Amino acid sequence: MPVAAIVPAAGRGERLGGDLPKALHEVRGHPLVWHAVDALARGAQLLEVVVVAPREHAGPMTDALVDVAVPTRVVAGGASRQVSVAAGLDALDPRADLVLVHDAARPLLPPAMVARVVAALAAGAEGVVPVVPAVDTIKQVDDAGLVVATLVRSNLRMVQTPQGFRRDVLARAHACARAAGVVDASDDATLLERLGRPVRTVAGDGYAFKVTHPVDLTLLDLLLGGSTGRLDRHRDRQEDERDQDAPSLQGGGHGDERSRG
Ligand code: C5P
Repeated sequence: MPVAAIVPAAGRGERLGGDLPKALHEVRGHPLVWHAVDALARGAQLLEVVVVAPREHAGPMTDALVDVAVPTRVVAGGASRQVSVAAGLDALDPRADLVLVHDAARPLLPPAMVARVVAALAAGAEGVVPVVPAVDTIKQVDDAGLVVATLVRSNLRMVQTPQGFRRDVLARAHACARAAGVVDASDDATLLERLGRPVRTVAGDGYAFKVTHPVDLTLLDLLLGGSTGRLDRHRDRQEDERDQDAPSLQGGGHGDERSRG
């Protein structure tokens, strides 16, 4: 089944600081969005990648992607991630039956992780999310900052991207959310959950961390730079051991591989 990808890259990156959108931050000669698209293309055979950019940065985003190894188009995004992904979905090649949605802010995605998501879709899943166990205790707080509850950590997973979907199911989920006035879901699987559709989990990986704060750029630079060897060894090992768990920074390789719902 033909696979295409949407890369939402229209966020402002306010937590990172600076004037540029986060996806255009350069690390080791390329912006984050280039690294993210390159990583996706290493992990799956893709018809195309639709990158969703801030309207006023569509030109620089297109220029940044000229030499990636997959056909790429840039479209304008919206005020929330959900609206940006919907714009990408509207523009997607009609031949694509399966869709990967991957944050531009996750540049170090291991190819084996992409392959796990695609394999779960090929096996019949409607929606797939890569997950890693929560390592911190997570508390619910009220508006005043007082703790109201402690969630049971063993049941919690941190969800990464790429998330994978049957295209028809994702399109229906987005249309239903829009019709209900929901516009700010923080990921796409949430929209399937609203409809009661099952979402399968596969093992994520610590290397697929989301660049959010300045410290993440430092970590990224270290991983891509001085230790080209370190990262390449990690990638080689992942490619060798495609379906086995691999070591990671944040508990990667320990995610669930089971169906929910
Ligand atoms: O802000 P957040 O961390 O949820 O962003 C995740 C991804 O969604 C980023 O790659 C960001 O560029 C993208 N995004 C978008 N349009 C928005 C907000 C975020 O494409 N309006």
